[in-house]
Amino acid sequence: MKVLATRRYPGPAFEELRDLEVRALREVQGARSDVEALVVANEPVPADLLPGLRLVANFGVGYDRVGAEELRRRGVAVTNTPGVLDAATADLTWALILAVRRRVVEGDLRVRGGEWTGSWADGFLAEELTGSTLGIVGLGRIGQAVARRAHGFELRVLYTQRHRVETELGEYRELDDLLTEADVVTIHAPLTPETRELIDARRLALLKDGACLVNTARGEIMDEPALVAELASARIRAGLDVFAHEPQVPEELLSLPNVVLTPHLGSGTRQAREAMTRLVVDNILALERGDPLVTPVDA
Ligand code: 8YV
Repeated sequence: MKVLATRRYPGPAFEELRDLEVRALREVQGARSDVEALVVANEPVPADLLPGLRLVANFGVGYDRVGAEELRRRGVAVTNTPGVLDAATADLTWALILAVRRRVVEGDLRVRGGEWTGSWADGFLAEELTGSTLGIVGLGRIGQAVARRAHGFELRVLYTQRHRVETELGEYRELDDLLTEADVVTIHAPLTPETRELIDARRLALLKDGACLVNTARGEIMDEPALVAELASARIRAGLDVFAHEPQVPEELLSLPNVVLTPHLGSGTRQAREAMTRLVVDNILALERGDPLVTPVDA
């Protein structure tokens, strides 16, 4: 089966693809009917590739940019890579929570800048994490992994999501109440029409003074200009791994001490990325054999 992949994806499983072409989508020119399976990292599928296409295997759990509904209408299946990146993404979330809350990057910059000239016994203070309240927006697999880690830090956990569930992991709150009550808010919802700009200026204003907001989900879940304005006012802190127009990061954020920025690293461990490739390849091999797809998405 002819497979087109937009880059070489990491890990040994990728070598199992036999009839493989590696080509960025911007280099695909003119209609092609020979490609049966396409591997993308949440990239829009060009109409030029549709004639022969049977499967879009997305390297990632979030597939908001591939155009899954239209693909389904055209009879093209879509798969993603759920489950294997939960630990990696939850760990990065905690790295950001801790970095923001304990001012780790600010400290690093002060050391490198030669500003550590004596004890800071009475200054450069942070807020303690233990005993504070964590609000999780979206208690799916990644949100749950974040909640489990929270108990080690002795946090009270609140969660919100579309469907309230019975769980030991945290107490349910309506979104606005969660934003009002939590000291740390972390986003783990998928990007859908309902969650686009879910956290807008009105909701940002609900956050407590000094609250910490972390986003390792999708930048578009925030009203990004409103977030930038709120951060510029220094009222809240944030750890951001995702942005509305990646790889662009709003210029104003670059000079703010109350923000920690990472370049969409959530699933970026060797283990997670190799397992994602394994799932991508397993889905393609299943299609080739005529077996059910391993991780199809419901578009
Ligand atoms: C990226 C992700 O796909 O799983 C997701 O939804 O956003 C990531 O895993 C990955 O970083 C490749 O761009």
